[in-house]
Amino acid sequence: MNETLKGLLERTSLRRFSARPISPEDRLAILTAAAAAPTAGNQQLYTILDITDPALKERLSRTCDNQPFIARAAMVWVFLADFQKWYDAFQEAGCSPRRPGPGDLLLAVDDALIAAQNAVTAAHSLGIGSCYIGDVMEQCRVHRELLHLPEYVFPAAMVVFGYPEPGAAPGHKPERLPLEGILQENVYRQLDGAQLRRLFARQTAREGFDAWMDAFCRRKYNSSFSREMTRSVREYLASFDGDGT
Ligand SMILES: Cc1cc2nc3c(=O)[nH]c(=O)nc-3n(C[C@H](O)[C@H](O)[C@H](O)COP(=O)(O)O)c2cc1C
Repeated sequence: MNETLKGLLERTSLRRFSARPISPEDRLAILTAAAAAPTAGNQQLYTILDITDPALKERLSRTCDNQPFIARAAMVWVFLADFQKWYDAFQEAGCSPRRPGPGDLLLAVDDALIAAQNAVTAAHSLGIGSCYIGDVMEQCRVHRELLHLPEYVFPAAMVVFGYPEPGAAPGHKPERLPLEGILQENVYRQLDGAQLRRLFARQTAREGFDAWMDAFCRRKYNSSFSREMTRSVREYLASFDGDGT
C-alpha cells in the first residue's frame, strides 16, 4: 500500500495533545497543502482563521459544547466559507453582482471543507494529529459575532491540530459502514427497512437495531445542540437570500 493510502486509512481524530507548538515549517506545509486543494473555478471561496489568542481559544472551547481539548490544541483553525471577498471584489471593480444565494454558500462550504481535509491529511503525514469540531457551525450565530464575520462568511468547520501527547496510544478508529453501504450505481435507490437493518448490522448487533437507533436518535439527531444548529443555520440562511437573479 502506498504512503498516501496508508495515511488516509490509519488517521484517527486526536483529542490529547502535547504542549509542543507546531513548528513554522510544519504550519506552512499544512497551509500550502490546504491552498492546493481543488476549488470551484479556482476561486478559493474560503478564509482560514488562525486562532492564536489564548483567550479566544478558551472561549471557543466553551462555546463549542465545552470541549476543553480545543484550548489545549497547539493550532486552532476555523475554515470559513467566504463569498464576501469575491462579492466585494466584484463591487470594487464596478460590476453589478447579484446577491449571493444558498447555492453560492454551499459552493463556498464545499471549498472550505475540501481545503480543511487537505490540511488534516497533510498534518497527519507530518505526525500532527487533528480533530474537526462541528459545533462551530452548530453555534453559528454566536461564532459569527465572536469572530466578526460579515454577511457572506460562514463558519463551515473548525479543526484543531497538535502533536500527540507523549506515550499516548493511537486513538481507536470507529468502524465504518460496509463499503456497499456507501456506493450505489448510476441512480439513487432509497433503502428499504430490511436493507437498512443489514447496513447498520455491525453497529447495532449488541443492542439490536431498534434500541440502538432510538438511543442514537435521542442523543444526536434530536438533541438540543442539533436542534440549535438547524435553528441558527436557518436564521443565517434567511440573510443569505439572493435568488440568483
Ligand atoms: C464535521 C465534523 C464534526 C466533528 N465534530 C467533533 C466534535 O465537536 N468533537 C469531537 O470530539 N469530534 C468531532 N468530530 C470527529 C468525529 O467524531 C470523528 O471523525 C468520527 O468519530 C470518526 O473517527 P475518526 O476521525 O477517528 O476516524 C467531528 C468530525 C466531523 C467530520
